[in-house]
Amino acid sequence: MSERPLIEVCNLVRKYKNRTFGNHYTTAVNDVSFSIHSSETLGLVGESGSGKSTTGRLLLGLEPADEGRVFFEGTDITSLSSREMKPWRRRMQVIFQDPYTAINPRKTIQHFIAEPLLVHGLVRSLREAEDHISTLLRQVGLDPSLMTRSPHEFSGGQRQRICIARALL
Ligand SMILES: Nc1ncnc2c1ncn2[C@@H]1O[C@H](COP(=O)(O)OP(=O)(O)OP(=O)(O)O)[C@@H](O)[C@H]1O
Ligand SMILES: [Mg+2]
Repeated sequence: MSERPLIEVCNLVRKYKNRTFGNHYTTAVNDVSFSIHSSETLGLVGESGSGKSTTGRLLLGLEPADEGRVFFEGTDITSLSSREMKPWRRRMQVIFQDPYTAINPRKTIQHFIAEPLLVHGLVRSLREAEDHISTLLRQVGLDPSLMTRSPHEFSGGQRQRICIARALL
């Protein structure tokens, strides 16, 4: 095990304002700390609504923490601007719990999987990404000929595999 953890989460706190009672807050994440080393897998277990997904979103910087820090290879990513965060984003992938809300329903799955390549300027067109997407779809057990279909034409499990393909990419 290397000395420095890959990810270090320190004292994360996230409170959500209660819509109906103005000054009341729900504490979704309360003083959570853990670290993950390279090649290590961490499972977070807890009852429904205990703050697991929120912890994940805070870790990725998808929403701001009220308190606490996240270090990625020693860099404090909680203090970065969205522009400074961009190169780090390439290295952190997520497979969301609900694959249907994660995939844009109006685009083909080819577009969904290739989107990160387009966003980071690694390919200029969908065509250029086609071979890569075929390989990824095969890797998750889906036929590459399905890439021009829409998300609603897949089952829940298949949609989750489409999300895994994008995370692998
Ligand atoms: N955007 C939000 N606005 C307000 N409250 C929220 C928001 N997101 C989550 N919560 C609340 O924060 C708490 C933690 O939710 P979270 O989604 O992190 O739970 P979870 O552990 O992932 O649950 P599950 O096992 O059901 O997926 C819950 O009480 C939830 O209602
Ligand atoms: Mg959850």
